Parts: sequence; C-alpha cells; structure tokens
Amino acid sequence: MNTPANQKAKGNYPSSNIGLPLIWAIGGGKGGVGKSIVSILLALNLARQGHSTVLIDADLGAANLHTLMGIKTPVRTLNDFLTRKYKSLEQVCIQTEVENLKLVCGASEVLSMANPQYAQKTKIFKSIKSLSTRHVVLDLGAGTSYNVLDFFLIANFPIVVLTAQPISIQNAYAFVRNAVYRRLTRTVSQKPSMLNLVKTAMDPKNENQLRTIKELLKAIKQANGVRHARMLEQAVSSIKPLLITNMARTDLEQKAARIVKLVAQKYLTIEAHDLGAIGMDQEIARAVSEMRPINHLHGQTPAFRAAGKIINDTLAAYEESQLN
Ligand SMILES: Nc1ncnc2c1ncn2[C@@H]1O[C@H](COP(=O)(O)OP(=O)(O)OP(=O)(O)O)[C@@H](O)[C@H]1O
Ligand SMILES: [Mg+2]
Repeated sequence: MNTPANQKAKGNYPSSNIGLPLIWAIGGGKGGVGKSIVSILLALNLARQGHSTVLIDADLGAANLHTLMGIKTPVRTLNDFLTRKYKSLEQVCIQTEVENLKLVCGASEVLSMANPQYAQKTKIFKSIKSLSTRHVVLDLGAGTSYNVLDFFLIANFPIVVLTAQPISIQNAYAFVRNAVYRRLTRTVSQKPSMLNLVKTAMDPKNENQLRTIKELLKAIKQANGVRHARMLEQAVSSIKPLLITNMARTDLEQKAARIVKLVAQKYLTIEAHDLGAIGMDQEIARAVSEMRPINHLHGQTPAFRAAGKIINDTLAAYEESQLN
C-alpha cells in the first residue's frame, strides 16, 4: 500500500530489537484531546488484527483507562508492581474481554507515583521492554512533565494527539519542543557549559537570541566545537514525532497537524509526520457519557476504521523502513 502517510514516514522509524515489543506512546500537551480514547482505539485495532498487545495506563497522576475499558475496580495496578507486591509487570497485566489485549491499570491511588525518580522510571522502562507481547500502547498523562516526556522518548512510535483547536495545535507544538529540550538536556547533563546554553535556549525569550535549534547548535559549535554540535544534532534528529488529529469535524480540521509539522521543521529542525485524523465519532461520545466500555463498540464505527488505517499505514511504513 502506498498511501501518503507511509510515503512520508518511510525510513524514519527507530528499530526494535528482534523479540522486543514495539512501543506506541500516546501523548499531547492538552488534557481532554483524546489521548486515552486514541490509545484504546489503536490497541483494539492491533489486538483485533491478531497482534498480542498490552495497553498500559501510564497516566501516573489521574489513571482512568480501566473505566473506559469497563473495569470498575482493578484488582491489580501498576502500583502493585512499583511497590514490589508483584515482581514483574507481566503479573499485573489483566486480560481484557478482547482477545489478544491485556491491560495494565494505572496507579493514581498513590500520589507520589505522579512523580517517580528516574531510577523508578528506568525500572518501568525495562519491564515494559521485557513484556512478552508484540505491541505495547502507553496512554500518557496530560502535560509535559518529565515523566510524560521520558515515556514518549523511549517509544518506537511517539504519537502526539491534538485537536484542530488553535490552543491544542499550540500545545502539540509545545509538547514536541519540550520533548526535544528534554532529550538535549539529558544528552548534555554531565557537560555544564553546553547544559547552560541548552537551558538558555529553552526560554523562548532568551537574551542570547537563541530562537531555533539551528541557532542553538551554531552557538554550541562556536563554544564547544563541531563534534559536540553534531552529537546534539543527532540527538535532536532522532526524535520523529507522529501526529494524530482527533475529533476532526471537517476536511480542513483533518489537516491541523500540518501546522505542527511545519513549525517543528522550522524551529526545531525535526521531521514530524502526520499520521492522519480520527473524526468526531458520536458513538464514542455517547458511550463515554453513558459509561459504556469503548471495547463494546462495533469495529466499523468511523473512529475505529480511522484508527485501523493509521495502524496499517504506520506498520507498513515501519516494516519498509526496517528493510532499507
Ligand atoms: N474521536 C472521538 N469522537 C468523539 N468523542 C471523542 C473522541 N475522542 C475523544 N472524545 C471525547 O473526549 C473526551 C476526552 O477524551 P480522553 O479522555 O481520551 O482525553 P485525554 O486526552 O485522555 O484526557 P486526559 O488528559 O484528561 O487524560 C472523551 O471522554 C470523549 O467524550
Ligand atoms: Mg487520558
């Protein structure tokens, strides 16, 4: 299949080692844009296509994915793993009503979990990678906290969900910008002079006039040499955000992600890819308001089909990129 989505994304995916799960992380600056719904739609499509899939509620502040999946009180949560009640993440997976789909419920009952230490996060990353499944879908929390960004940055498919609202477009760009600066900050964390420059550039109104990543890299080249500038350039260009516009109501709204793509190219020197749109689907809205599980909805509703197309295009492009 040679759709525009996979043409654009060609050759751009970080590979997963054979046997390791492919990780989809679903983020996006603003609350309520549909990260959880999109996570569920993607996971359901993967599972219904026969791929073993684990959907993880990684919203460490306000976990609610289980409710949307029709589970009232989760018997095991991510918290049981973090507090060592269970040794592996595998053990806290709950089999859902859907074949091939397991769920790890979130840990919102422990507020400190909203801000775990990096070591604790590393433990979660490792355990995610050791899950015996083909796909992992991570529903991230709202905002751009380090937790959210760190999960986003480990994914094979780092997805940013936005709506066509101007504020959501701005937030999606801000999310991508924050991810870039998080990657840069961690890359130079042991090198104070570069770290200072990166931190200066993070403030969009900085006095050094560092407005774009290009200008930052130029300043680093002057101060620290070409080798360091190249290292940072690589760290930035390895981030390939994938954009999904959710709840689109018109053809024009479906193209909202293009704005984020253009601005990211201009100011951050990174290639974001527009994976397409998922329309405003009344069946989903109704199911949520009547507290009916999303997984009970028919697979032929427009939002399901749109998510299915996104899955097919993305996997086709991924496989093609691994062959090149
Ligand atoms: N494609 C869609 N069609 C119709 N309604 C939708 C769609 N996507 C999301 N919604 C509606 O938007 C609401 C918010 O979605 P969701 O809970 O997925 O947002 P979120 O980004 O995960 O929010 P939070 O940041 O609070 O976790 C849903 O309850 C649902 O009513
Ligand atoms: Mg959510």
